[in-house]
Amino acid sequence: MEQASESAAIGQVLLTGDEISSILHKLAGQISTAYADSQKVIVIVLLSGAKVFADNLFALINDDKFKIHYITASSYKNGCKSCGTLELTGLDYISVKGQDVLIVDDIYDSGLTMRGMFNFLKPQNPSTIRTCILLVKQVERSDTIDIDFQGITIDDYFVVGYGLDYNGQYRHLPFIASLQAPSS
Ligand code: IMP
Ligand code: MG
Repeated sequence: MEQASESAAIGQVLLTGDEISSILHKLAGQISTAYADSQKVIVIVLLSGAKVFADNLFALINDDKFKIHYITASSYKNGCKSCGTLELTGLDYISVKGQDVLIVDDIYDSGLTMRGMFNFLKPQNPSTIRTCILLVKQVERSDTIDIDFQGITIDDYFVVGYGLDYNGQYRHLPFIASLQAPSS
C-alpha cells in the first residue's frame, strides 16, 4: 500500500456510486446462488471499513438466513507489507463449528487480515469458509487466499470513500477515490 500523508486530499474518482451499485448487484446474485442450498450462513463483517459495503450488500440480498456479525480487525504491520500482528476483537463470541461462514471485507491489500481470519476460524471446523471483498489491490503477495466473491481489482492506490477511511476521514463519500499524492 502506498503511504498517505497527514494532509492528503481526494484525488481521482475510481468508482462512482452507480458503478459501486452494479458491483453490489453482481455480488448479491453470486452470493444468493452460491448459498441457495444453505439453511444458515454466518456472515462476519470486518469493521469499520466493510460496514457500508456489507450493509448495502445484504440489504440487496434480503434473506434472513444470512446472520450478520461485526468484528474488529486491527493490523500492526511493523513497516512490512505482509507480516506483522493482527488483533481480532469479537470473534470469540461467534460459533462457527459446522457452519457455512462468509467473511466480508472492504479491501484486500497485503492479505494479512484474511490470513489471520482463516488461521483463527479453520481450527474451529466450520463446514465452509468463503470470502467476499469489494476491492482487490493488484500488489505482489507472498501468501494469497482464494477470494470467492470479488468486486473489482484496482491498482495499488490508497483509496477512501464508501466506508473506507484515511485517519477517520472520507468514509461518508458515496464514491471511491484515490488519495491525492502530497504536493511537496
Ligand atoms: P491487509 O491485511 O493488508 O490485506 O489489509 C486489509 C485492511 O487494511 C482492510 O480491511 C482495510 O481496513 C485496510 N486498508 C488496506 N488498504 C486500504 C486503503 O487503500 N484504504 C483504506 N483502508 C485500507
Ligand atoms: Mg479493514
